Amino acid sequence: MKDIEILAKEAASMAGKLVAALLGKTAVEQKGSSYNLITEADRRSEELITGFLAREMPESAILGEENHQGEKLSAERLWIIDPLDGTTNFAHTIPHFGVSVAYAEKGKLTAGAVYDPMRDELFSAASGRGARCNGRRIRVSTSTTLGQSLIATGFYYDRAMTMEKTLRALYWLYQEDIRCMRRMGAASLDLSWLACGRFDGYFEYTLSPWDFAAGLLVLLEAGGKASDASGVQADLFSKGLICSNGLIHDSLLACVLAPRKF
Ligand code: IPD
Ligand code: CA
Ligand code: CA
Repeated sequence: MKDIEILAKEAASMAGKLVAALLGKTAVEQKGSSYNLITEADRRSEELITGFLAREMPESAILGEENHQGEKLSAERLWIIDPLDGTTNFAHTIPHFGVSVAYAEKGKLTAGAVYDPMRDELFSAASGRGARCNGRRIRVSTSTTLGQSLIATGFYYDRAMTMEKTLRALYWLYQEDIRCMRRMGAASLDLSWLACGRFDGYFEYTLSPWDFAAGLLVLLEAGGKASDASGVQADLFSKGLICSNGLIHDSLLACVLAPRKF
């Protein structure tokens, strides 16, 4: 059997190339609301990855964002796929999106890959073997204060409590004089960019496993630290993430864990 990290890399890069070729050429549909979108690229990418993995590892289950049927995160062997992470960017022809493919055994992440086809950057990791971008080892940044930190965030589809909490957290981070914040629009790439030192922190209160599974392993293998939205060590079952290079973690948690009203 092929190495799992290699399979994840092959699946993510193959699908990423397909998605990039469809940029600006697909119709955009709504998934229940005007701000939750889906395109032909999401569907075709998932079909491509699912077909590939089913051929390579027929004994494994597949949890894909667009076609999940009750697969359990604790399954014996499970692939977790986001066929197009950053669909809103893609739908607006903003060239920042990724494909995320992770693998877990009994709920424990063991390998993952995130591919950014527009920059031809392939981030990957296997547990205990470190994280890489295009084959070269990557590490988190060495910033030690919020004042030196560029912090990424994301907004889930909730526009009530989660959004208010996110905006509050940003306010308190700016009160601590963070360098700035970014909302790039693809959680898998936010985590990968944190892993390679472009960001120093990232938080998003609500996420689905396909958004973060591969990126979380890449981050941890690059020396980063990840808590869930309640502050405990994050894992595949987390519902949100507060992540950093480790060095600013306590300062980030102080602003983001339970941000006060302003
Ligand atoms: C979304 C992106 C976005 C994040 C959202 C995700 P999608 O994934 O990762 O950055 O803020 O929470 O749902 O819908 O483009 O696959
Ligand atoms: Ca996603
Ligand atoms: Ca997606």
